[in-house]
Amino acid sequence: MKALVLSGGSGTRLRPITHTSPKQLVPVANKPVLYYVLEDIARAGITDVGIVVGETAYEIQQAVGDGGKFGLDVTYLPQEAPLGLAHAVLIARDYLGDDDFVMYLGDNFVLGGISGLVEEFRARRPDAHLLLTRVADPRGFGVAEIGPDGRITGLEEKPQQPRSDMALVGIYLFTPVVHEAVRAVTPSWRGELEITHAIQWLIDHPYDVRFSTISGYWKDTGNPQDMLEVNRSVLEGLEPRVEGEVDDASEIVGRVRIDAGARVRGSRIVGPAVIGSGTVITGSYVGPYTSIAENCRIEASEIEFSIVLRDSRLSWIRRVQRSLIGRNVRVTPAPRVPAGTCLILGDDSKVEIPL
Ligand code: TTP
Repeated sequence: MKALVLSGGSGTRLRPITHTSPKQLVPVANKPVLYYVLEDIARAGITDVGIVVGETAYEIQQAVGDGGKFGLDVTYLPQEAPLGLAHAVLIARDYLGDDDFVMYLGDNFVLGGISGLVEEFRARRPDAHLLLTRVADPRGFGVAEIGPDGRITGLEEKPQQPRSDMALVGIYLFTPVVHEAVRAVTPSWRGELEITHAIQWLIDHPYDVRFSTISGYWKDTGNPQDMLEVNRSVLEGLEPRVEGEVDDASEIVGRVRIDAGARVRGSRIVGPAVIGSGTVITGSYVGPYTSIAENCRIEASEIEFSIVLRDSRLSWIRRVQRSLIGRNVRVTPAPRVPAGTCLILGDDSKVEIPL
């Protein structure tokens, strides 16, 4: 069995972060989302992994290499444009050959992993197996309709009037019949070859499409709120560990990881939180559910429920919260004269300023 990991796409919902870096490499508890995916695949006993890459192929290759550090053998599969999840399967045809495979979206996060699911699939081997989960608002998802016999009768992509609250999780198990299905579908109104259409084709022909529901935690990290939410849930399971320097004037409360080479002076850190190596925190408060990456400076500031990427600096800023801050960002107070907010923001930035 192989794995097909999708790490192309345009990541428009995570702009401006994705103007300069792929969304699959945004860190959760200071580790890229994609690493959790690859570790999960390795734990399920799969070693051959094809990673579909687009415009950000170089960054993904730099971060993952040949997969050796995960115990995987990685092959990169360039996709000329983000033409849809079924298109990604289409271009992976030669790599996948006649093997069964798990398709895993590179920005998806499941707590608990896929090992059980892969085992069940190997044992029963239906033509395809989907993962579903109940969501409050299904309109942003692929939605499955379940018949009275407990089988999937239909799938819809982002329906305005969903027929159920069962959304498709970004993990799919396929046998090689899916290759026929992806060749049979045509682009949707949004110009993409949709995997939901290919699965509908399987249901209609009629192949055996099963599903299981997950009650555990699952999130697509495609937008900032969900990214912060995943960060929160991963930090909740954090092993506390202080390897950096913490002075006597500082207080560390709860689950906090301070990596070697980080320094904390005269500050209060309330976990769960993680501080990356080379980061210096001075006279500041770092509150729960915060990940500060490597080589940041946080001075005389307060931050909580946020992710800060590497090389960024916050100085004299009162209470930053629910924020996703990119690499090498500066947040500082404005001079008293002339008073006023000074913004130099990338395209698609979002700023909320308290009145
Ligand atoms: P999406 O989040 O559906 O698409 P996107 O990355 O274009 O994001 P946005 O909607 O914010 O513009 O993609 C799910 C995953 O699949 C993600 O990891 C990117 C990847 N992907 C591909 O590799 N190829 C594709 O053609 C598409 C559409 C997505």
